[in-house]
Amino acid sequence: NLEEKINIVKAAITSHPDFPKKGVIFRDIFGALLQPAAFAALRDVLVAHARQLSPRPDAVVALDARGFLFGPLIALELGVPLVPVRKRGKLPGAVRSVQYQLEYGQDTFEMQDGSISKGQNVLIVDDLLATGGTMSAACQLVSEAGGTVLGCLVIIELAELGGRQKVPAPVTTLLEF
Ligand code: PRP
Ligand code: ADE
Repeated sequence: NLEEKINIVKAAITSHPDFPKKGVIFRDIFGALLQPAAFAALRDVLVAHARQLSPRPDAVVALDARGFLFGPLIALELGVPLVPVRKRGKLPGAVRSVQYQLEYGQDTFEMQDGSISKGQNVLIVDDLLATGGTMSAACQLVSEAGGTVLGCLVIIELAELGGRQKVPAPVTTLLEF
């Protein structure tokens, strides 16, 4: 069942104190991808969540870089577009940009004009919610493009950082540290 699958994923995630900066405990999702059974369990749980959303998402937005590992699994299952949000300077053509802060730094996100249509219901996918700065920035880009953020789906929540209070849309996380 889904709870057992989440436990398999959690057991495969490794923790690294003082990376990439002193005081940060880095939770490495790649541990779960090194084990095919854990990756498959993770895919199953993500897809199960996305399938029960109402209304159904019209598009999946995946966040650079680790969100790119998981968003496509969901978009393919739902049969909807996969829209990339990327760090500055990576996407060609006209883009909209937003600057944001995250747990260990700051960055700029960009989304291509026309990649979301007005009125679309969007599911945003990333690996981890820490301070919520990254997810909030993605919500802002989707809203500015005329989309509605149906939900934000994240595998790992660092609950003590309170990131979900900052995000202007419903946040679902699979497991907490
Ligand atoms: C990490 C992680 C989330 C974000 C969460 O990405 O993958 O996207 O930080 O932090 P926050 O909630 O404090 O904003 P990072 O920018 O390190 O980039 P990467 O995915 O390219 O490794
Ligand atoms: N992104 C922001 N904070 C993080 C953490 N503690 N571990 C992994 N990714 C992160």
